[in-house]
Order: sequence, then structure tokens, then C-alpha cells
Amino acid sequence: MRSIHVKSYAQLSFEAAKIIAAQIALKQDTVLGLATGSTPVGAYQQLAEWNQQGKLDFSQVRTFNLDEYRGLAGDHPQSYRYFMQKHLFSQINILPGNTHVPQGDCADASAECANYDSSILAAGGIDLQLLGIGHNGHIGFNEPSNCFVLPTHEVALTQRTLEANSRFFDAAEQQPRSALTMGIAPIMQAKRILLISQGSEKMPILEKALYGPVTPEVPASILQLHPNLTVIYNESDC
Ligand code: GLP
Repeated sequence: MRSIHVKSYAQLSFEAAKIIAAQIALKQDTVLGLATGSTPVGAYQQLAEWNQQGKLDFSQVRTFNLDEYRGLAGDHPQSYRYFMQKHLFSQINILPGNTHVPQGDCADASAECANYDSSILAAGGIDLQLLGIGHNGHIGFNEPSNCFVLPTHEVALTQRTLEANSRFFDAAEQQPRSALTMGIAPIMQAKRILLISQGSEKMPILEKALYGPVTPEVPASILQLHPNLTVIYNESDC
């Protein structure tokens, strides 16, 4: 594991964007695994800026997002597809057909999940997977459980996750209680993983994940077994 300690969110975003940009420079048709949540937003802004300045080309890049809320269509403002369009895809020269987010409003979740895993395999697997970490140690929406679920699957969100993510929903809005998430297999099969963690409140779970026992009760702890893991963390709240 390589760990990079930074002192601000701006620095975290810059370092993460540099690693992603370097990956694309090395392999123009890179397959990126992407994350949502507030942590990656700064890195996405930086990547968009470099793209607009002509320094970084996404024309051959393919992306697979980690997860999507069950029941939300891609044009729903709280969907992760919408989030990705807003924060990254609409700002860079990526081909819309090269971006993949599980379809939350599909009729058949198991078929959608199986199809998602097949598409990742058909693309040659993920070259670089970007991850945030949830307060309970989740990655994507792989929630604490008594076993690691390998394929992409539908998952019931825990109370902790519902509370953490309720900030994105208006009081009147119905917050989905389940999601489709990339499973542990496609994440761990990524050639390289970049985990980013922002703020003092994430430090206890980050330490548990990186130095505690490997257990499905802390899903991110599986990352200890990955041969090419980079962690960028900022323990301050600035
Ligand atoms: C959501 C996403 C995760 C993300 C987590 C942390 O639950 N499914 O992929 O890592 O939020 O989000 P934040 O970066 O806002 O703390």
C-alpha cells in the first residue's frame, strides 16, 4: 500500500486528479471505475479543467460507476447518473456511450447487475478504481455484512448510510432504501485502486479499514489484500 498524507481538500483533489490523469496519459482507452459522494468532486473539477485546457483527453476513456440508487432514473437529480453528468461527464470530451452507471430504474435488478459485470469484463476490467469510504466502512454500497458479496448486486442500505446520505435529499423527497452496487469482485479485480478519504470524521474508520482485521463487517478492509492500493487522506477538515 502506498499512502499519501495531504493537508487540505484542495491538495487531496489535486493528488487524486494527477494519478487519474497519469493513468489516462499511459493508456488512452483506460477503463476508470468512478465514485460518487462529496469526496471526489474536487478531483473531478480538476480533471475537467485539464480537459478544457486541452491537457487531458477523455475521447477514448471508458467509465464504470460503482453504484446507483434503486428506483431512480438517470435524470432524477439525486441519482448518481445525474451527479456524474453534472460533476464530470458534461464537462469533458467523453463519449456518452462510454460512460456506465447501473440503471437504478431497471425492471430486473439481477439481470442489470449480471449485465453490468459482463460489460466490465468485456471492457477488459477496470484499470483504475477510484473509491471513497463510507462512515461504516462501505465501499460503493457494499455495506457491513457477514460475508463479502462478490458480484454486482442489489443491497439494502443500512440506517447509518441512509442518515449519512439524507443530506442530499429534500425532506419531502423519498430517499431510496436500496441500491445497486458493484460487488467486491470487480472492485478487487481492478488493476489499481485509489482510495480517498477527507476529514477527521473518516479517520477512525479509515484506520480500521487499513490496519484492522480483514472482515466483511468493515468492507473496505478487503483493500488490504489488493496488490496495488494507493490511499490519499486528509485528516484535517480544511
Ligand atoms: C456514498 C457512495 C460511496 C461513497 C460514500 C462516501 O455512500 N455510495 O461510494 O464513498 O457515499 O461519501 P462522501 O465522499 O460524501 O463521504
